[in-house]
Amino acid sequence: MRMVDLIEKKRDGKILTKDEIQYFIRGVSNGSIPDYQTSAFLMTVLFQGMNEEETSFLTDAMEHSGETINLSKIQGATVDKHSTGGVGDKTSLALGPLVASCGAKLAKMSGRGLGHTGGTLDKLESIPGFKIQLSIDDFIHQVNEIGLAIVGQTKEVDPADKKLYALRDVTGTVESIPLIASSIMSKKLAAGADTILLDVKVGAGAFMKTKKSAQELAHLMVKIGKHLNRDTRAILTGMEEPLGYAVGNALEVKEAIDELNGHGPKDFHELILKAGSIMLCQAKIAKTEEEGERKIQEAIDNRKGLEKLKEMVIKQGGDVSYIENPCKFPISSLIIPVYAEKDGYVHHIDSLAIGLTAMRLGAGRATMQDEIDHSSGIVLAKKVGDFVQKGDVLCTLYTNKEDIGRAKDDASDAFLIKKEKIAAPSILLDYIR
Ligand code: URA
Repeated sequence: MRMVDLIEKKRDGKILTKDEIQYFIRGVSNGSIPDYQTSAFLMTVLFQGMNEEETSFLTDAMEHSGETINLSKIQGATVDKHSTGGVGDKTSLALGPLVASCGAKLAKMSGRGLGHTGGTLDKLESIPGFKIQLSIDDFIHQVNEIGLAIVGQTKEVDPADKKLYALRDVTGTVESIPLIASSIMSKKLAAGADTILLDVKVGAGAFMKTKKSAQELAHLMVKIGKHLNRDTRAILTGMEEPLGYAVGNALEVKEAIDELNGHGPKDFHELILKAGSIMLCQAKIAKTEEEGERKIQEAIDNRKGLEKLKEMVIKQGGDVSYIENPCKFPISSLIIPVYAEKDGYVHHIDSLAIGLTAMRLGAGRATMQDEIDHSSGIVLAKKVGDFVQKGDVLCTLYTNKEDIGRAKDDASDAFLIKKEKIAAPSILLDYIR
């Protein structure tokens, strides 16, 4: 087989066989296919697409390009959840402890943030001492003991995705539904959980800008999961404004602790109840979603979720006094309010602009080598649907950087304020099972 023949075949809109796709992934993993051919191939897929069967073959080949995690030593159903990436998305920090406190086993491998989106690992590392690297044995042992572990993905899991994603990032080929679906599902399948809940974000701050494209991606991933015998479901949630109020690592950990203490933001709470109830149904701990929601709400009200987060922090070497007393998280040296320039209702908060501004304040990385400043970020004071008067604070910037360039203007421009009243949107746009 020659790679050039596969590139030409896909370029001409033809369907690739399982063998051809396996040949491609083998060559990507062992380095025998040069980056220029891989990039050309990715571009043909971006333009010509792949059918469901090709995407399943691609996912399967990627999943088996490296180590697959065997979670069979964990007693009980293992659940996993994955977000396609958003701004202010601290869901795993609260959801993980809540479902684990209800009896589900969450053995989660998470990623770091890049660009405008945050990563769970960076958020957890704002807790002093918290270790995100555990050996596979320790990871499984911890899940058996307390029902919960959130760690970094090892280099050995899905190496093909690491190579392909790095090339896609610099060749304009990220936005391809089959490539996104195979990238996400191959990692989730390699991570070994029995059930997968996908949170597909929709809107300006997400990969999927429209509900239609998000539905297409979600349906495809659910089918791939089912095809490979995993209970896979997806929710579509709005990213037309950041999730909750806080954007930035320690700021988001504090907001997740608020949720576990029973006073999280309304949209975040709505997402936690929905996602948590589905995961409890997947783990067969709840028979209906209503029962699942009741259990999650109880775990918030009786603080069992908060206790579970504390257990995980202790097990992974973190300083639990920060969870007990979130005022301990360091506050940045500069705190800069951004004021409304006119009266009206907030119609839209550009999550992409907020995410990029938070990144420039120090909360994120433009390249993988950049250092994160855990205390920096943005806290919104207003959400979509809120009324503001000229001079009200729209949001507050937190940073240790003296030179913040246009950050204040960019944050202000992210708010679309109009005279007409508008209702606060519902976070949940669709549920696909
Ligand atoms: N997240 C992933 O893991 N892969 C993609 O391709 C896009 C989002």
